[in-house]
Amino acid sequence: MSAVLSGAITGPSYLKNRKLKAWVADVARLTQPDRVVWCDGSQQEYDRLCDELVAAGTFRRLNAAKRPGSFLALSDPADVARVEDRTYICSETKDDAGPTNNWVDPAQMRATLNGLFTGSMRGRTMYVIPFSMGPLGSGISQIGVEISDSAYVGVNMRIMTRMGRAVIDALGSDGEFVPCVHSVGRPLIGNGKRGEKDVPWPCNSTKYIVHFPQTREIWSFGSGYGGNALLGKKCLALRIASTMARDAARVDGLGWLAEHMLVVGVTSPEGKKYHIGAAFPSACGKTNFAMLIPPATFAGWTVTTVGEDIAWIKPGKDGRLYAINPEAGFFGVAPGTSEKTNRNAIATLREDVIFTNVALTDEGDVWWEGMGPPPAHLIDWQGKDWTPEDGKAGRKAAHPNARFTVPAAQCPAIDDDWENPDGVPIDAFLFGGRRSTTVPLVTEARDWTEGVYMAATMGSETTAAQAGAQGVLRRDPFAMLPFCGYNMGDYFSHWLALGARLANNGVKPPQIFTVNWFRTGDDGKFVWPGFGENMRVLKWVVDRVEGKASGNEHVFGVSPRYEDMEWNGLDFPRAKFDEITSIDLDDWRKEIRSHTELFAKLAGRLPPELGDTKCNFAQRLGE
Ligand code: OXD
Ligand code: MN
Repeated sequence: MSAVLSGAITGPSYLKNRKLKAWVADVARLTQPDRVVWCDGSQQEYDRLCDELVAAGTFRRLNAAKRPGSFLALSDPADVARVEDRTYICSETKDDAGPTNNWVDPAQMRATLNGLFTGSMRGRTMYVIPFSMGPLGSGISQIGVEISDSAYVGVNMRIMTRMGRAVIDALGSDGEFVPCVHSVGRPLIGNGKRGEKDVPWPCNSTKYIVHFPQTREIWSFGSGYGGNALLGKKCLALRIASTMARDAARVDGLGWLAEHMLVVGVTSPEGKKYHIGAAFPSACGKTNFAMLIPPATFAGWTVTTVGEDIAWIKPGKDGRLYAINPEAGFFGVAPGTSEKTNRNAIATLREDVIFTNVALTDEGDVWWEGMGPPPAHLIDWQGKDWTPEDGKAGRKAAHPNARFTVPAAQCPAIDDDWENPDGVPIDAFLFGGRRSTTVPLVTEARDWTEGVYMAATMGSETTAAQAGAQGVLRRDPFAMLPFCGYNMGDYFSHWLALGARLANNGVKPPQIFTVNWFRTGDDGKFVWPGFGENMRVLKWVVDRVEGKASGNEHVFGVSPRYEDMEWNGLDFPRAKFDEITSIDLDDWRKEIRSHTELFAKLAGRLPPELGDTKCNFAQRLGE
């Protein structure tokens, strides 16, 4: 080990945490980097790392007049998205991970990882990245430390989390943290020789994204992209946090929730504020909903963004559920984002953004499909020339999963309370997939159990953004299918138990609604205009929370009648409304029968309440 390495390994003078010191030394011994850098989270450090990434060819600095402080990274074409088939939950038993997760025996996985990580950082710099998910000092937040051999990860983590020295200070000498080890898996010294040339986007064709829920550890190998590499996000804030949230119930009898949810604030003209948590699978317009701009006729109504991807939700002192956004930035999908679809997102992206896999214009700015008319010439996400002719031939200029990384604080609609350490009180939960048929525009569940049933059986039709056939219905319970760190049946039980315990404590749990913006007409086109017009649904939801709006009770709950909705400013005839709110009993009989498949898969751990609810629905349908 070089003198430089052994010097840095002890860490900065302000480091007091014994466990952190020992763990970093252990990982350095295993991965054998040339250098160790402890990230302090400063602007100078961010600028230096960005300069290094430019010099390495990973980043291209964008035109400062058009996109100040911003960069473009183009990834390896084989490293463009989360790898669900390479993602593992290594709990003690296979049953604890459940049938919806990949599982390998923890001891066997540790042996595999040991082999992969031995010397995996040779010739590289190892960054120690201390971060907090949630505002430092919040009782809901959690601290993690990511060790990574990617400077790209370092600069992204500075945007996506509260990162740096303040986190080490908060840890003190004995504070607990979630250890996260990440390597792109491409050492620069091979076969005993130094000086192997680096590539702009190092990665490895072997990939492992591994979680050990019992010891709360994350190990990620072979990918530098998104949720595979920014380990605070899906790995910690969802997979590990969901197990923490469930386990906490054993201690305090309640536990908490780590959810794949956006959170919005909705303020009425009277100044009353409501908070809604909403879960949608990928490609269902989550970012657009999180930054919704109400129609002009909704004077006095405002929608503000608390978070757009993940919510941690805990009972507060008054017993109600309070949510924080554990992240500090947005890692959003760029294609489809425009002035028309999401003006707030476009404004958020005006400066200080890291773009990944979008196209580069001749002026040194960015472009993606859905942004507006394409320029005459671009460099596409693979670094190749692109013209609109290529687009007509079906070649995309930006990868469909191209991303922006940007501080949440830059969003013009950011909620005043988005960093409130106590969180915001949740009034309602929304669950929604992409369904061309069957599921009405909006339905309020009659009670918590029916709401949990609807969320548990939520389905969404696949789009071009997903590999494989389009329009295939996939069950994605709570939009958590790839993100639940334990058995999905136990997860349903945890939701049911939390609602029951809130009620036992005399607290009314938030009302649960299902929504569907995607019903199509005979012409195959969407009937509902969506985007800002979803405010009309939000208004009905908050009016229901107030007990002010009426609706029509049907087999599955309560949906609005035409006259229960606010139509001012939108010409949307009753016939069209009936088309997207109609309940076709035959379709619903098929739907309920198709839930059998999911329930059979989870049999053994499926809470009996959900089986009973299914029977009740079937009976109501005359089955
Ligand atoms: C995301 C996802 O990146 O859900 O947020 O895939
Ligand atoms: Mn997500």
